[in-house]
Amino acid sequence: MSPDAKPAKKPVSTLFSTGPTRKRPGWSPAALDDAALGRSHRAAGPKARIQTCISKIHSVLELPDDYVVGIVPASDTGAVEMAMWSLLGARGVDVLAWDAFGRLWVADAVTQLPLENVTTHVADYGHLPDLSAVNFDNDVVFTWNGTAAGVRVPDGDWIPDDRAGLTIADSTSACFAMDIPWKKLDVVTFSFQKSLGGEGGHGVIILSPRAVKRVNSYTPPWPVPKILSLAKECKLEAGHFLIERCAGRLRTRIRGKMIKPGAMQIIADTDFQRVKAI
Ligand SMILES: Cc1ncc(COP(=O)(O)O)c(C=O)c1O
Repeated sequence: MSPDAKPAKKPVSTLFSTGPTRKRPGWSPAALDDAALGRSHRAAGPKARIQTCISKIHSVLELPDDYVVGIVPASDTGAVEMAMWSLLGARGVDVLAWDAFGRLWVADAVTQLPLENVTTHVADYGHLPDLSAVNFDNDVVFTWNGTAAGVRVPDGDWIPDDRAGLTIADSTSACFAMDIPWKKLDVVTFSFQKSLGGEGGHGVIILSPRAVKRVNSYTPPWPVPKILSLAKECKLEAGHFLIERCAGRLRTRIRGKMIKPGAMQIIADTDFQRVKAI
């Protein structure tokens, strides 16, 4: 077949997102009619929509009240590397992998960050490493669901409640699709392009109070590019996260400083009401 010939076999649905996943049922370009495309994400209207999106993520995922949510640049990869560059180095690191992206986080820990005490637990496709060998005195980086490998951790029972290190879980294809025991995780990341059938470009990072404490009390010994930094002047960057106390409950909002142009499309694209119904 000539490379220019029209393929005879066509997909059942032509609604692809960048995942690559299918767009959500009911999606049409009309979803973007009032998406505030071309407007600054710092303007009042777009900023309010970003705040609503953050609140919906918090409520649909049923996160603990004291966990905070931020939307960050560079998709899930940006969110995972932001956690690694901003938080690691305070103690040893165990990093686990059973798919291609997990292997990227291993490479980050072993060849990119100047970490002194790194233990790797890598399994071939189709397998998990021995989870009982993980040292939770260290920070632990792993992938909840190795999307392309089709292998995920069974549950959170292997993670102790009284761990000393932080657990950092790339959960991009697990969030909204699998039960996640939030209290076992200190950093959770995902992007809109997986279970939500949305678009890439921005990621989401969720932090437990212990992760926030690390941001506020620890400065890595290496330079952290602004785009990977959770902190501003050694405190959680209020541009990512705005934490409000509302009727005694912690609520999270975002001011959108780190959000880059393009976020408005991603946000308009997502139908959280429907996700909640499912
Ligand atoms: C497990 C896992 N982590 C990370 C990524 C990268 O996600 P993104 O393209 O949103 O950076 C993927 C993408 O397929 C993935 O499956």
